[in-house]
Amino acid sequence: MTPIQELIINKKTIKKPIWLMRQAGRYLPEFRKIRKLNPNFINLCLNENLSSKITLQPIKRFELDAAIIFSDILMIPYGLNQKVKFKKKFGPELGALNLKKISNVNEKDFLKRLHPIYKSIKKVKKNILINNKDVIGFIGAPWTLLVYMINKHSPKKKLIKDFFKDEFLINKILIILEKFLKVHIEQQIRSGATVIQIFDSWAGLLRENDLPKYVYIPTLNLVNYVKSLNVPVICFPRGIKNYKNYCDIVKPDVINIDYDVDPISISKEIQIPIQGGLNPKVLLSDKDNLKKETLKYLNIFKDHPYIFNLGHGVMPETDPMKVDYLVKLVKDY
Ligand code: CP3
Repeated sequence: MTPIQELIINKKTIKKPIWLMRQAGRYLPEFRKIRKLNPNFINLCLNENLSSKITLQPIKRFELDAAIIFSDILMIPYGLNQKVKFKKKFGPELGALNLKKISNVNEKDFLKRLHPIYKSIKKVKKNILINNKDVIGFIGAPWTLLVYMINKHSPKKKLIKDFFKDEFLINKILIILEKFLKVHIEQQIRSGATVIQIFDSWAGLLRENDLPKYVYIPTLNLVNYVKSLNVPVICFPRGIKNYKNYCDIVKPDVINIDYDVDPISISKEIQIPIQGGLNPKVLLSDKDNLKKETLKYLNIFKDHPYIFNLGHGVMPETDPMKVDYLVKLVKDY
């Protein structure tokens, strides 16, 4: 069994496995080199030779316990025929949302559009570097994808004014998303993904009252689907106020916490395996501070099944040497 499976299934606490969100990305010069030659981000995700190579870049450098497939949560709206572009220094920008167009996409069209992602997973899986490591597939949670599809770009701190106006449209999209997210989960697992992570990056934008409809119920359906395929599922409802409630209702195998969560209280409140927490900005500080903060998490979760990770993705300004130092700290603990 891989260290991560051992931890999730047998609740092992002795060694802490480690991987990092956005471990394949702009902080690595070897990524920037490929990126420069490939200005279209979507096309890069759809190039199975390059995306598998990028997925393996951090595995070559650091002693990480998992590779996360180089793709994006916005490949789903792309697969559903909504335009998706990534603008430099601005982030994602989506085209008009045409319900009729999206409703007309069938499973065959969708799979045809996303086929290179599955080929890429197969390539990664075959690589010798992946021996005794997990391959993490992922999806965006329905709520977060809905935010991008209606809002058209990152909402920063709030949604566009009329976001909730068209309830019919929202309900239709949620149904379509559930169907195709299941297809995407199944294909990733069939191609070799051994863990699925569900990113709900905008869960924190909702009021408590709206969580059941937009977060709990749609995510629970997908968590149950992943479990039915005998694969562990990690959930990351970033910014949500009450992680304990979320875990009691959604019941993921692992919960990823953000850096605003107090690690001491959560370690007492939540029994299931926990992942993440360290503020990615700590990787921009000096080594002494990085060591202090890393040991803080390791000490607090000493007797808890804990996968070391960050409270959000590695920042582009990060020095890869700091990542190396972090991984070694965790491995030598
Ligand atoms: O290494 C990995 O973590 C795997 C690959 C991965 C990417 N995006 C690659 C990427 C994963 C798991 C994601 C998830 C993702 N994408 C999320 C959920 C996690 C989170 O960040 O909250 C979200 C919200 C997105 C949407 C998205 N994609 C945004 C907002 C941006 C622009 C902001 C940014 O950081 O540049 C992206 C682009 C993106 N996705 C990049 C990468 C490596 C940067 C693209 C570039 O090189 O310009």
